[in-house]
Amino acid sequence: MKIGVIGTGYVGLVSGVMLSTEDNSVICIDKSKDIITKLKIGECTIYENMLDHYLKSSLDNNKISFSSNYNDIKDVEALFICVGTPSSDDGSANLDYIYSSIDSSLEVVSKDCLIIIKSTVPPGSSKKFQDYIYKKGYHNKIATNPEFLREGTAIYDFQNADRIVFGIQNEQSKKILLDIYKSDVLKGTEIVFTDLTTSEMIKYVSNSFLSIKLSFINEMANLCEKIDANIHDLSKGVGLDKRIGSMFLNAGPGYGGSCFPKDTNALKFVSDKLNVKSLVLDASIESNLARYSLMAKKIEDNAGGKKIAILGMSFKAGTDDVRDSPAVEIINILSEKGYDMNCYDPASNNNFRSLNIRNTKTCKSLNEAVKDTNTIVILTEWEEFKEINLEDISKLVTNKIIIDLRNIIDRDYALKLGFEVTNIGIA
Ligand code: UDX
Repeated sequence: MKIGVIGTGYVGLVSGVMLSTEDNSVICIDKSKDIITKLKIGECTIYENMLDHYLKSSLDNNKISFSSNYNDIKDVEALFICVGTPSSDDGSANLDYIYSSIDSSLEVVSKDCLIIIKSTVPPGSSKKFQDYIYKKGYHNKIATNPEFLREGTAIYDFQNADRIVFGIQNEQSKKILLDIYKSDVLKGTEIVFTDLTTSEMIKYVSNSFLSIKLSFINEMANLCEKIDANIHDLSKGVGLDKRIGSMFLNAGPGYGGSCFPKDTNALKFVSDKLNVKSLVLDASIESNLARYSLMAKKIEDNAGGKKIAILGMSFKAGTDDVRDSPAVEIINILSEKGYDMNCYDPASNNNFRSLNIRNTKTCKSLNEAVKDTNTIVILTEWEEFKEINLEDISKLVTNKIIIDLRNIIDRDYALKLGFEVTNIGIA
């Protein structure tokens, strides 16, 4: 099928490229000419493992093209809207980019072109988009197809989806979506057909449920520290219950990224607006926000001085993304308290540097970051940090103190080498 994709960010580029590896030809549109120029020559504009491989092969096979000109989508049979829906100050999702991409698309696409909302939008939004299209005098149908891709594992997640969710209004939409995802249908991926609003709820409730699970295990880590229990064994013992599951039970410095904070706040906004109490959701949001200052205090209470090394600024390992990163939130608090920080991350140095946070220096290597510092703080669970050579490090630092907020260092070995070690969820 001939498909259009509007927006080539994390969702649009991964979806566009991966849909082009199936029996589809894809044209991706982005208003940024700089991004389009790079993508046309196979230069990946986001950090996703293996994405450049698939991008280049689809370009070589003429399965994908890129443009800033909406006229280039005039022949598409289906159009995925994958533009950003950033949080407004009041926590609601800003849908302006969706409305403007619908406006630009309707002038060009055929009246039978199915418009598929893939961007994460609050429950009830797609019905409003459909009314908006009718009011403008067009008859194009809206469908939804929310994504469940995690940054850093987006290709894997696309190829191994637990389920594919479609919000549809008629049989024709169902046929088009099944044709687009032919290979997933053939390999038996579970497909959920539902109405527009329920499909939007599935996305928000999935992310919110995972956020609540994380806020809870993080609070239980706090309790472990007080009653001298061990969070590792707790997570293992609890996670082996199949009804709970072991994923998203790793206590850390709090959850972050461009999705969980945004989506939980948007769902809260919708609940509040409809006067439906969401006490559990509200508490998990509050718990996560409080965690950043709790982690900063843990660092203050255990650091050997004000000259410290920060290892990891991305919101999680495997990505260069620092948006709503717990590490950045914690660094901001410590900067205000006069800490002088050498910061290093294998992927997000450039994105972090552009934040220009006072009292921080972005270092090119782990060794450069730890040299002459009196505390090492680990905030992101990169493999590189799991494999730190503690003997070498002990010769570079002024104090042998490690504050490991991802519990990835071999604690017993570090203690044996004379390091003071502070963890999450271990007394
Ligand atoms: C999330 C959802 O997982 C994905 O399905 C959705 O499409 C987009 O939002 P992402 O934001 O890329 O994906 O990151 P994710 O891997 O879910 O991690 C979110 C946050 O939770 C990160 O800050 C991560 O460090 C934290 N986390 C995750 C933990 O602290 N512990 C865990 O065990 C897992």
